[in-house]
Amino acid sequence: MEQFTEMVLARLNCKDERTKAILTKLITHLHDFIRDVEPTEEEWFKAIDFLTRTGKTCTDKRQEFILLSDVLGVSMLVDSINHRNNNGATESTVTGPFHASAPPMEMGSMIAKGPELERGEATLVRGKISDINGNPIPDAIIDVWQSDDIGYYDVQEMGQPEVNLRGIFKTNPDGKFWFKTIKPAAYPVPTDGPVGEVLRAAGRHAMRPAHIHFMIMVPGYQRLITHLFVKGDEYLNSDAVFGVKDSLILEFKLNNSASDAKALGFQSPFYEVEYDFILNKIN
Ligand code: BEZ
Ligand code: FE
Repeated sequence: MEQFTEMVLARLNCKDERTKAILTKLITHLHDFIRDVEPTEEEWFKAIDFLTRTGKTCTDKRQEFILLSDVLGVSMLVDSINHRNNNGATESTVTGPFHASAPPMEMGSMIAKGPELERGEATLVRGKISDINGNPIPDAIIDVWQSDDIGYYDVQEMGQPEVNLRGIFKTNPDGKFWFKTIKPAAYPVPTDGPVGEVLRAAGRHAMRPAHIHFMIMVPGYQRLITHLFVKGDEYLNSDAVFGVKDSLILEFKLNNSASDAKALGFQSPFYEVEYDFILNKIN
């Protein structure tokens, strides 16, 4: 049977070395996996049916293959390989399926609209963007998105305003930014498709701990895609997609100052969270 793998590999006639290296490893590991597991034909057909249904679940709004990669820990493995020399820059994590185009907003704007704004716990998010030497970066584009107070994104069409809890900000000359929002909630990754079957078969829950997504873009710097997680969330140690890094867990502190609240147009008390992002230059 080993010779069979050799024969399949011998047929490779790739135009470039990288493709050859990838296909060689793919075939070798796949054959080893099959020899190891010895699936019945029924199990093999089940696997093909699973992959077929995973593909059919993908639309322009839903990417079931990325979700599969996320829950199997593959996305975070790719992330750790690609960011292993980060020179003290802010750590990255998964993008997830809920990024969507958002409007540019004035510094300090409230990104929550509609009933979420009434129900949610008011939160001020602020920070600074700088390079690894501590130099502030002005005009950095900060694209933010998050779930509402009950764990839904606007794109999940749960009766939220069309564009909600997302926005694009640009840092000031001193590299600083701030915006107003509501405290995000933990939520389940979608489980109504084939990936849900995997989670159930594995006896795992689908929850992600509460977080705010950030994508930070500056010409000449590596794009940073990350989250800020809410300290104390019950799912920090069991994130369904393995995306938590300790350096990204932050305390959302309660501010009891009535005058601070008034200045922001908030009811007192409100939450505050502060984080300084550090970006790596493109090599
Ligand atoms: C998210 O954080 O939005 C997310 C990430 C991976 C899978 C599902 C959701
Ligand atoms: Fe998310």
